[in-house]
This record gives sequence, C-alpha cells and structure tokens, in this order.
Amino acid sequence: MDSRPIGIFDSGVGGLTVVKEVMNSLAGESIVYFGDTARVPYGSKSKQTVTKFSAQIIRFLLTQDVKAIIIACNTVSSNSIEELREIFPNIPIVEVVGPGVHMALHTTKTGIIGVVGTHATIESNKYPELLLAKDSALKVYGKACPLFVPLVEDGWAERDVAYQVVKEYLRPLLEKNIDSLILGCTHYPMLTSTIKKVVGDQIELINPAEEAARQMGDILSKNDMTSDDYDPEYKFYVSDSEERFKEMAQIFLNKPIEHIATVPIEEY
Ligand code: DGL
Repeated sequence: MDSRPIGIFDSGVGGLTVVKEVMNSLAGESIVYFGDTARVPYGSKSKQTVTKFSAQIIRFLLTQDVKAIIIACNTVSSNSIEELREIFPNIPIVEVVGPGVHMALHTTKTGIIGVVGTHATIESNKYPELLLAKDSALKVYGKACPLFVPLVEDGWAERDVAYQVVKEYLRPLLEKNIDSLILGCTHYPMLTSTIKKVVGDQIELINPAEEAARQMGDILSKNDMTSDDYDPEYKFYVSDSEERFKEMAQIFLNKPIEHIATVPIEEY
C-alpha cells in the first residue's frame, strides 16, 4: 500500500488521454500531471532537446513525491526513454511505445500495421524497430501527421476539415492494406471518431495509453505499491496558460479541475 501519486507528463494537453485511462483503470491512485504547455510541440524538436526538457519535468515530478512515472508523450518515449532511464534509475518509468507495440502484436491478423505520430516519433523509427524485433515477418508503415495536433488543440477534431486532413494523411497507409493502426501520439485518440469515419470497421485503432495504464498497474501490484484511496487527489501543473489548459482538461476529463498551478520548469 502506497498512497503517493503517480506522475504523468506530456508536452501539453495530449497526455490527458493517458490520465483518463489511469483514472478509469487505476481508480484509487492519485495523479500529479505536468503538461509542458510553454514548450509544446516536442514533435518537431531534436532528441537532445526532448531529453533535456523531459529530464527537467521528471526532476520536478520527483519533488512532488511521485512513486512512479508514466511518460505519456510518444515523442519522448520513442526518442529519450533509454537516456531517461539511465538518468533516473531509481523510479519505475512506464512509457507508451512498448505498450503500443504489445497491443499491435495482439491485434494484427494480417501482420500489416500502420503507425501515425509526430515527425520526431516517425523519424525515430522506434515503433517499426520494436515490432520487427518481435516478428520480422511483419510489415510496418509509418506516417507523420503533424496537422492532427493543432486540430485537436483547437477543438476541431469533429469538423469536416479534420475529416479531410485525416483522409489525406491516411491514404498511403490504407493503400498498404493495414489491419491495425497505432495512434502513436497522445492527441490522436481524441480524433478517434473522425479516424473511424475514414478507416471504417476493418482497421483496429490502437491506443497505447490503455496498455500503459495496465502496465503501471502491474508494476505497482508487484511492488506492493498500489493505492485504493476512495478519494484520490488529482493535481495538474503546466509551464504556461493555466486557464486554457484547465478549460480543455475539464471538457476532456469531464470533471472539475480543482488544483492547477504554473511551474517555472526551466529551473529544474
Ligand atoms: N505529445 C506529443 C506526442 O505524443 C504530441 C505533441 C507534440 O508534438 O508535442 O508525440
């Protein structure tokens, strides 16, 4: 039994897709979330910068006495996980790429898998690398979809323009006859209904956040670190624009955000 919170971080609001999964599947756990709203997007930055920013965030989360960390951001997970595990060897860290790979391996029937993400995630080649290491017969096709993030951030996920953009980006993957599509970016699960309209029922959409939350649950159980608090605390921190974050978070999580504060993250 360990009632300390789980730390979850992302470059901005997208990591709330992971927060939602944790709230649903690990309902007794408190959460401290950090969204780097001042420095988003990470998807167009170098590995070095992404690692530096992430290390600052983990240092901040450690000051909040977190017992474990989930890296919600695919860009961080695919570029910086090895370095971050080396810098912070004493705290359990769950990332999202391994969970996405795990789910895709169980979902695909034809072995033809699509991955969508930011430029940095697709260019890291991490998803294909891990998938092919498990099964070299798989066919994996990646596609960077940089316009998905601003569409979600501006609340345009359900509009016709989003449908057109999704259709345009996914066309090359559909031509490859994928049967599973990994949503390799925190924001993309928020586009699920629009993506479904484009790809139909034949393609399984994979949200790595589901398996990431499950893996965190496993780690906590194995180490006797779970919490079954009936009234867990949720604290949110950002590096800029509290109000905007709060507004989006309340809509997405469908609950009032009571604790939110701004952190000068570059000081960590
Ligand atoms: N959170 C990022 C990811 O999952 C998307 C937004 C960004 O580019 O920072 O890759």
